[in-house]
Amino acid sequence: LRLLSVTSELHPLIKTGGLADVAGALPPALVAHGVETRLLLPAYPQVLRAFADSKLKAVHSYKALFGDPARLLAAKLNGLDLLLLDSPSLFATRDGGPYADLTGHDWSDNWRRFAALSAVAADVAAGAVKGWRADVVHAHDWQAAMTAAYVRHGRAPDTPVVLTVHNLAFQGRFDAGIFPQLGLPDSAWAVDGVEYYGGVGFLKAGLQYADAITTVSPTYADEIRTPAFGMGLDGLLRGRGDAVHGIVNGIDDREWDPATDPHLARSFSARSLGGRTANRRAVEKRFGLKRGASRDGGPIFALISRLTWQKGIDLIVDAIEHIVAHGGRLAVLGSGDAAFEGALIGAAARHRGQVGVVTGYDEPLAHLMQAGCDAILIPSRFEPCGLTQLYGLRYGTIPVAARTGGLADTIIDANDAALSAGCATGILHPPASGEALKAAISRAIALHSSPDLWQAMRRQGMRGDYGWGRGSARYAALYRSLADRNRTA
Ligand code: ADP
Ligand code: GLC
Repeated sequence: LRLLSVTSELHPLIKTGGLADVAGALPPALVAHGVETRLLLPAYPQVLRAFADSKLKAVHSYKALFGDPARLLAAKLNGLDLLLLDSPSLFATRDGGPYADLTGHDWSDNWRRFAALSAVAADVAAGAVKGWRADVVHAHDWQAAMTAAYVRHGRAPDTPVVLTVHNLAFQGRFDAGIFPQLGLPDSAWAVDGVEYYGGVGFLKAGLQYADAITTVSPTYADEIRTPAFGMGLDGLLRGRGDAVHGIVNGIDDREWDPATDPHLARSFSARSLGGRTANRRAVEKRFGLKRGASRDGGPIFALISRLTWQKGIDLIVDAIEHIVAHGGRLAVLGSGDAAFEGALIGAAARHRGQVGVVTGYDEPLAHLMQAGCDAILIPSRFEPCGLTQLYGLRYGTIPVAARTGGLADTIIDANDAALSAGCATGILHPPASGEALKAAISRAIALHSSPDLWQAMRRQGMRGDYGWGRGSARYAALYRSLADRNRTA
């Protein structure tokens, strides 16, 4: 089965969050199921810089794509087949992130950039690149969601499209005035087309046109069909009935393996945890954390996150006094809202030796923290899947997380039943409550003071399988069922 995957991020080339990890780690796991993937993504400067010119091969060109010339470049990345959409005016020659400039303002032409990506995806699926057509297209998030609309109104309208929602909060909503420039037929301007509350909704259009919708955990799949989590799209999602599926993300368990990870001070495994000590020391050093009078110094809580409202960062800021007063320590790696960055840096200044903060984006440090911290705080208000709890589980950093979305589906709370059965892997608390977070932190500190119990939980988490084995089988089965339905129709 030939799959075209359309994404706006790909680790290790360009990443703002978990989407990049998923886009890169799923295709290799699909190979075992007979799925051959080509990945289409924009040729941002960060992407082009990763390849020598000789490694890029022009395979298709457009005289005018949304007004400007563009090319498709084929490249290989660790065995992965990439198609890069090279349109300098849309994607290259500008500094900043994939969606926003250096000051955090969205690029004003985002609609044009990601409509272009989606239109090209439909074109490639229909055979624009000689010798290859897609049996199924898999589009990720609002940036690629319009692919479903362009396929439906394009040259191969029956090609099945799967749309994965990684985060319903980002919807790609634009002014109605752009509609005539999208190149879609007038009939697409409809409630069951791209129209959304009087404007154009990219994610909404994708949800409408896709043959199947997946999201990244079963609990989030249920949640987004309720007004509380649906962000205005719950009605549409309820209407799509059986087309909505929840498939838990996996992790790249070769890149995230404490036995071989090059970013660690020392390697370790569930059977021999001794190496964790050197990583803990390295974390203490990097964050300026002191041990005080006790030999152990108290548990180190980690926060590795975008600093946003979704992630409950305000709740963590409010819980810092509580952590410190009860003998815990906190190491923060994050970037995002300036107000949260400021509050965290202020707390570090007030609690020198107990709270340390590194702002910015630092992939190697994220690995070291998972290897050297004791627990990771994830008090998200909503969390479609979450990857940092999976990395924590694999590395023996016990998640203390809100019971929502994928966090609820991947962590076994240390309640009495789970502790007596020996299957607990973390601590879950009700979401969006400062008091609940503090109570969970207290539970973690109490458990940590029983080293045998803590080690047993740590080992239990590390024994789990968090790779893409199960998830890739489910995606492959979904692609096949759509392709077969198409063939027999
Ligand atoms: P989201 O995609 O909502 O941000 P996930 O938990 O799915 O949440 O994925 C976040 C990814 O980004 C993980 O790979 C995590 O390790 C990484 N990450 C987040 N913030 C940072 C940071 N400041 N430095 C390095 N890695 C980070
Ligand atoms: C989104 C979600 C996160 C999920 C990631 C990858 O960014 O916020 O929960 O893990 O996508 O699917």
